[in-house]
Amino acid sequence: MTILQNSTGPTRDEVQAHRGASAVAPENTIAAFKAAADQGCKWIELDVALLKDGTAVVIHDVSIDRCSSSRGQLADLTAADLAGIDAGSWFSKTFSGEPLPTLESAIVSLGELGLNANVEIKQHAHHTSLAQLTETVHDQLRKRAAHTQVMISSFDGEALKAMHELDQGYDLAMLWSELPGGWPDRLASIPSSTIHLNYKALSFGFLEEARRRGVKVRAWTCNTPRLLAPFWEAGLTGVITDDPSLYLT
Ligand code: G3P
Ligand code: MG
Repeated sequence: MTILQNSTGPTRDEVQAHRGASAVAPENTIAAFKAAADQGCKWIELDVALLKDGTAVVIHDVSIDRCSSSRGQLADLTAADLAGIDAGSWFSKTFSGEPLPTLESAIVSLGELGLNANVEIKQHAHHTSLAQLTETVHDQLRKRAAHTQVMISSFDGEALKAMHELDQGYDLAMLWSELPGGWPDRLASIPSSTIHLNYKALSFGFLEEARRRGVKVRAWTCNTPRLLAPFWEAGLTGVITDDPSLYLT
């Protein structure tokens, strides 16, 4: 018997809050993760990168200019600078004083909030050592609560391979903005059986081939559920969205 899952939309376990519930709270902050939990979301996506001193922090950009009240490059900052950074006021006065989280503090919060995490490893030019990046992320993730599930995603296949070498139990997802030619072979080299694809690049033909090959596909970053509606029955597995409430009705 064939059971069609997700034929009308994603299950609750397949809705991921992009940078937390970033439509209603400042992205990649504990406040955004809490907002996702308050919406009934089970998973958040967060971005991780290193500061100059090797501290793993939760931030999308290579600088703190866009998402804080300060200015500076991650390559020039250390853990000691974090106390002076307000990562909330840029979004709304309501979030004034919201910290820029370390990965360590985020992991603690996820455990408290009962959330699981899609940890996106950012590869930036100032990351001169892939081993330092992945070993730091791995060391922090080992501190997670027993009930906290994690998956690792990255646009950088080498980062995924390095995480796999550190722990073969990691669930890995290859991030692509567009579907590259020969994608099955590229995916097989990771090793991963999950693709996180820009929703604008979805097609029925791709989903059919993915399903035939047993590959999971999640779409990012879609805040308009009707655009994904035709794809659930075709095998789309999940969605990464700034506004999980749109999918959790
Ligand atoms: O995980 C999907 C999405 O986060 C990838 O793009 O640039 O928002 O990190 P970006
Ligand atoms: Mg991301």
